[in-house]
Amino acid sequence: MRYLVTGANRGIGLEFVKQLTKRGDSVIATARDLGSANELKLLAQEHDNLRFVALDISDNVSIAKLQESVREPIDVLLNNAGCYGNSGSFPDLDFDLLARDYDINAIGTLKVCAAMLNNVKAGDKKIIANVTSKMGSIGDNTSGGSYSYRMSKTGLNMAARCMSHDLKAENISVFVLHPGWVKTDMGGANAMITTEQSVTGMLKTIDVATLEHSGRFWEWNGNEIQW
Ligand SMILES: NC(=O)c1ccc[n+]([C@@H]2O[C@H](COP(=O)([O-])OP(=O)(O)OC[C@H]3O[C@@H](n4cnc5c(N)ncnc54)[C@H](OP(=O)(O)O)[C@@H]3O)[C@@H](O)[C@H]2O)c1
Repeated sequence: MRYLVTGANRGIGLEFVKQLTKRGDSVIATARDLGSANELKLLAQEHDNLRFVALDISDNVSIAKLQESVREPIDVLLNNAGCYGNSGSFPDLDFDLLARDYDINAIGTLKVCAAMLNNVKAGDKKIIANVTSKMGSIGDNTSGGSYSYRMSKTGLNMAARCMSHDLKAENISVFVLHPGWVKTDMGGANAMITTEQSVTGMLKTIDVATLEHSGRFWEWNGNEIQW
């Protein structure tokens, strides 16, 4: 299978690339700064099924360059890139930071989907999998706070749900995945699971995904989450 993974230089994205290349899938790994993506470069020395493209998902020029350099079909578009900003507590919110997170997590991811749509249409598996967060679930929100992260992931969730309807006729399955609380720079050292556990679990869902999975919210362990 042919994958494109965003935010692949560290954390969950890097682990996706490790597991996919190891099992023989072809991977286009994207990162904002390829110059410092040392672990990706090491992986490329061991795997000839891996290539890199620079991509900042919030930068229109960068997305246009992605479109120019990726001409091949993609079976699974894996939107993993994301950020967590501390926008403070209501009412003293940092609205600039809130807008930045929305621009990356919600709008940026949607722009990548639009730019890569023809590649996914040309693929065999026709999957758009988006790494979101349970913190973007409205039904699961019992504590408040984290406005920028929650709102931006809720925006991503709605975009995915819309695309699941809009792309059904094209047989493209679009869904969101919560990776769990994962030990990465974002999740911190006290998180519950490793990147290996999280990605192994999410790949189990992606591997069996069909149109039946479209428009739904999946947890890393295969459980379904309320919107
Ligand atoms: N870790 C958790 O517990 C957890 C829980 C729920 C959801 N998630 C989600 O899982 C995904 C991966 O998170 P992680 O834990 O692996 O976080 P991470 O270690 O902080 O990595 C985030 C990745 O996203 C990239 N990124 C951020 N902004 C970007 C942009 N504008 N354009 C392109 N790439 C960008 C980063 O690139 P740079 O290196 O250039 O910054 C990095 O590769 C995110 O969507 C996150 O929201 C994580």
